[in-house]
Amino acid sequence: MGLQDLRIVNFIGQHILSVDQFGRADIERIFEVADRMRPYAERRRITRVLEGAILGNMFFEPSTRTRISFGCAFNLLGGEVRETTEIKASSLSKGESLYDTARVLSGYSDIIVMRHPEAGSVAEFAAASRVPVINGGDGPNEHPSQALLDLYTIRRELADKDRAVDGLKIALVGDLRYGRAVHSLVKLIALFDNITFRLVSPPELALPEPYVAILKAAGHAVEPVHQLEAGVRGVDILYVTRTQEERFPSQEEADRYRGLFRINQDIYTSFCAPSTVIMHPLPRDSRSGARELDDDLNSNPNLAIFRQTDNGVLVRMALFALLLDVADKVDDQAREVPWFTGGREPE
Ligand code: CP
Repeated sequence: MGLQDLRIVNFIGQHILSVDQFGRADIERIFEVADRMRPYAERRRITRVLEGAILGNMFFEPSTRTRISFGCAFNLLGGEVRETTEIKASSLSKGESLYDTARVLSGYSDIIVMRHPEAGSVAEFAAASRVPVINGGDGPNEHPSQALLDLYTIRRELADKDRAVDGLKIALVGDLRYGRAVHSLVKLIALFDNITFRLVSPPELALPEPYVAILKAAGHAVEPVHQLEAGVRGVDILYVTRTQEERFPSQEEADRYRGLFRINQDIYTSFCAPSTVIMHPLPRDSRSGARELDDDLNSNPNLAIFRQTDNGVLVRMALFALLLDVADKVDDQAREVPWFTGGREPE
């Protein structure tokens, strides 16, 4: 156990900018609250614990699941959501600073989630905000809530096999250079013991050295591999990522890596252990030239990608409940849902 294990965050009123803020005890606290959110996320019970509260859901870069799941999570706790969905629809496009934007929006909201294309932008925004800010992804830097939901999923998938996260072997495949979900996830998993990180990427898209240094300093095995078949052998978790084309200096450069590493059922059957869990932060690029995670895996029971997205709602509800200090009040006056929910099976 390292010093990071001693860290215990007082969540109330904090910003969530980086997974560096968390130790193992904090992760346990978030996951314990997330577990208690399941009846609400699965539409079996209703809580109004955040009735009257407003989320400012400020997305200055495209998003489907992060924006909508944060919004749903807040609604499921009884709160309301106000959104911006791109820079050109906001006054940032007229030259307004992040400072002014943060001062204004934090007067309208109880909490803010923000995504922005520049690394460090959410921290700059948070420094000027009067309410807690959660980083919904800042350029190629970090995506803390994605890493939390990924680790929550990993833990559940391994628990189904009577395994713990300690001792995990994980292959991270694809664009490890620009993938912010990977950057946050490896640091979070590094809090556990005896991990093998197989880093499967073209040399030019390797995990940046500062992250590799963190993993090595924590005593974990780090195995860079540039060939897909060798990279996926013998791992518990296969975490596949999209080439982050929007982060490359040019489309021409991005095109060089499109479709280089593709996981499909053939590759899985030939090279992976039959129990290997397949994950992806999504979106996967399903265009014919890309397909880093082929649709022919959709009926593979070890494909956990939609369990990840469902778990995202639980983890994001937990973050709101902890930051706004209602984690222990969620069940007060909760009631059963009155509408038909039988057709909706959890993933
Ligand atoms: N995983 C993720 O961040 O997805 P979106 O870009 O759709 O939010």
